[in-house]
Amino acid sequence: MRVLNLRYHKRFQMELDLRRWRRQALALHPDYRLRPWSDDLLHEHAEVKYQSFHDELDAVVFPCLGEPESCLRLMHEIRERDGFVPEATWLAQYVGAGPRRVESCGTIQAIRINRTRANIQNIGVTPIHRGRGVGAALILAAVTGLHQVGVTRVALEVTAVNDSAVRLYQRIGFRSVKTVYKAIEELSERGPAAAH
Ligand SMILES: CC(C)(COP(=O)(O)OP(=O)(O)OC[C@H]1O[C@@H](n2cnc3c(N)ncnc32)[C@H](O)[C@@H]1OP(=O)(O)O)[C@@H](O)C(=O)NCCC(=O)NCCS
Repeated sequence: MRVLNLRYHKRFQMELDLRRWRRQALALHPDYRLRPWSDDLLHEHAEVKYQSFHDELDAVVFPCLGEPESCLRLMHEIRERDGFVPEATWLAQYVGAGPRRVESCGTIQAIRINRTRANIQNIGVTPIHRGRGVGAALILAAVTGLHQVGVTRVALEVTAVNDSAVRLYQRIGFRSVKTVYKAIEELSERGPAAAH
């Protein structure tokens, strides 16, 4: 028998106050570069989002991150939103294999919710490029872009068991301000004995 369960995923809401923030110096490894937003990079962002998230817990919490087409749709939606901040949207690329084999490997976007506040949306780095400082560089670039357009408080939400992401945000200066629980419906098989 198939039953519908609710599973609760603990998530931290984290914030960074840019009025007190000291920007950290970070030298991106020479095998990588960051490209600012342009419309022709939309598909690359969507593909990197899919490659970064589809095998991760966040694709269970947000199923749209688990399919290439829905990542593309999501990227279009983000692009069309009033609060889309091009200055906070960056694509990381691996250039270590030469100019003919450039590989997109990281993405970040942010949405401004009012004059001074913005939310970082998704940050993702493809699995083989993790642990080389690309994630930190993307966040610093996005936060710097938000600062330039007058944002003073940046927020994000992260699944609590995503240790490496939580550590990364803390290292940059984000602090947890609230814990929330996101309910996800799950279908599971249950035998006749258990069904009674
Ligand atoms: C979270 C995520 C974006 C981090 O990206 P990343 O590129 O691996 O981040 P960084 O390389 O900057 O930092 C990761 C680790 O590598 C270490 N590191 C960075 N540069 C390094 C270097 N040159 N040499 C050795 N280690 C290095 C960091 O200290 C950090 O270590 P820690 O996990 O022990 O704290 C990535 O793991 C990811 O895409 N995960 C799946 C999607 C996801 O969950 N996104 C977050 C949603 S809220």
